[in-house]
Amino acid sequence: MKIATPSLPSRVLTLYLALSQSHAAATAATAATAATADADAAASATKTLSFPSSQPTNAVPAPPDFVSLGFETAFLDNYANAFSANLVASLAGRMSAAPVLRVGGTSGDRVQFDPALRDANKTCVKGACPDGSDASFVLGPGYFDAFRSFPTARWTFQAPLGDGVYNRTQLLAYVERAWEAAAAGEEDRVDAIALGNEPSMYWKTAKEYREGAARAQAAIVKALGLGDRKIFQVAETIKPAAMSHSPYAAQEVFEAGFDSDATVKTVGEHWYQGTATTFDIEALQADLMNHTAITNRFPGYLKSLDAVQPTAAYTLSETGSTIARGVPLAYASGFGAALWSADFQLAAMSRRVRRVVSSGRPVAKHAPWVPDDSSGGGPAVRALWAASMFVADFVGKDKRRSVLEVPLGGGGEALASAYVMYDDDDDDDGTASSKAADRVALVNLKAWEAASDQDRGSLAFAVPVVKGTDSVKVRRLRADAGAWATGFDEGGAEENVTWAGEQWTYKVDKGKGHYVDGKLEEQTVKVQDGRAVVNVPDTEAVIVYL
Ligand SMILES: *[C@@H]1O[C@H](CO)[C@@H](O)[C@H](O)[C@H]1NC(C)=O
Ligand SMILES: *[C@@H]1O[C@H](CO)[C@@H](O)[C@H](O)[C@H]1NC(C)=O
Ligand SMILES: *[C@@H]1O[C@H](CO)[C@@H](O)[C@H](O)[C@H]1NC(C)=O
Ligand SMILES: *[C@@H]1O[C@H](CO)[C@@H](O)[C@H](O)[C@H]1NC(C)=O
Repeated sequence: MKIATPSLPSRVLTLYLALSQSHAAATAATAATAATADADAAASATKTLSFPSSQPTNAVPAPPDFVSLGFETAFLDNYANAFSANLVASLAGRMSAAPVLRVGGTSGDRVQFDPALRDANKTCVKGACPDGSDASFVLGPGYFDAFRSFPTARWTFQAPLGDGVYNRTQLLAYVERAWEAAAAGEEDRVDAIALGNEPSMYWKTAKEYREGAARAQAAIVKALGLGDRKIFQVAETIKPAAMSHSPYAAQEVFEAGFDSDATVKTVGEHWYQGTATTFDIEALQADLMNHTAITNRFPGYLKSLDAVQPTAAYTLSETGSTIARGVPLAYASGFGAALWSADFQLAAMSRRVRRVVSSGRPVAKHAPWVPDDSSGGGPAVRALWAASMFVADFVGKDKRRSVLEVPLGGGGEALASAYVMYDDDDDDDGTASSKAADRVALVNLKAWEAASDQDRGSLAFAVPVVKGTDSVKVRRLRADAGAWATGFDEGGAEENVTWAGEQWTYKVDKGKGHYVDGKLEEQTVKVQDGRAVVNVPDTEAVIVYL
């Protein structure tokens, strides 16, 4: 595969370094990345990072099972195939803990069970069938076998609360079968059982939710013999309520009584980023490829996180780029959206969110992959998928790490971000970890599209390294076609999306991943004057291994 040669001059954000120093360092970086740029131009745009070389106390432990995937309840069985299992195994293989798959959503409150339904896994019986958010399904026994798929993962599944009017028999019919198939003799494989979904849509107050959910919870505890096991997930707050706390979010759900319930393990709230209704490159830049738009969203969520985190883990249990009507695929799950996802996940992790679930259903444009041909457009892996591999590799599986966002300052913050990971692996035998900074993620969110008449710019980041380090390794999350690249399956060979040279497709590897050039791709950047200057093309993210 060709190495992109981003054309310089780079976009000037702030000139921190003395020109001569920046010039020399940028030249070294450019040579090392085999870019054939003119060295004078390369000197122009550099962001100098500043972070402690040893782990500060405000660094956040990076959860080993942070990266998560989710399936809309009624479509779980569509995912029960070798292709999806391969993708999940590709993710699990780069994590030190099993990823937790979330099964839930609006359909999850309305599923009924019919033991006599044998010739199909499900039928859609009410509402806008089968893809409307008001659709209701009857499930047959075959549906539940899907919980036996994905041996490399664990589960959270949702107890159907019937939009507030549930039938106890039906509630338990789903929960008991899901539990039996998911746990399959290993009850640890069920991470949590969620009590309903976006309950403010049917229970007006937090108190009504608490009371209604607690009755369902008691029935489940009894039926499964859970005793006082800490295994429930509550809230599942719809996005606007999570932001505004009106009518209620996880904080209010806790205050209504779940705070004193020792069986509550996790809290989930939902996040869809995009609000744009036109879908050009300016909209993509403002709406998704925008670090400020991401970080501005957090205050309401963090109020709930602070309220629940002492006793329960706070997760974003259903997330996506955008569910705007008429959104094109390239907008919702193209490479621009992939960079949104990478930045969003890292911003959430460094704000103490315990897990982020990238969710979807076969027809959803924002989903990371399409499991089958039920929606007419699959099977296919989307550009978005690679973001989760990037984030999982940043956490790594070789040791425990802690993360910190590195403030960039100096203007232009919306279009770039940086995060540092520290070695935080205190061994069981009592050996203390080095606490050294050991990798840095750099995200250049400046939107660039191949059709533009503008050359692709770039941004250089000067990364401080400790004495004695001569060079660093750099791996890239990249698409030569820029922000609208949809990946090989959807867009063909001109729209490849790779992470460190690896690409995941249905067509070539059935979700197992393959190196386009047969091997891992990484570059070496020489250190000069205590810094490695890493040039990141617009619409690209990298990890620098220190
Ligand atoms: C039914 O679901 C199972 C997994 O639970 C799946 O393997 C099978 O392909 C599904 N059958 C149909 C007809 O969708
Ligand atoms: C609850 O569901 C069961 C099983 O479908 C059904 O037999 C029963 O009549 C339902 N109960 C009520 C009160 O609707
Ligand atoms: C990024 O998002 C912020 C907050 O929504 C907005 O004010 C700003 O204009 C956006 N930046 C760009 C370049 O679109
Ligand atoms: C894109 O990926 C495909 C599948 O690996 C490969 O055959 C093709 O050469 C790649 N195209 C480019 C331009 O790298």
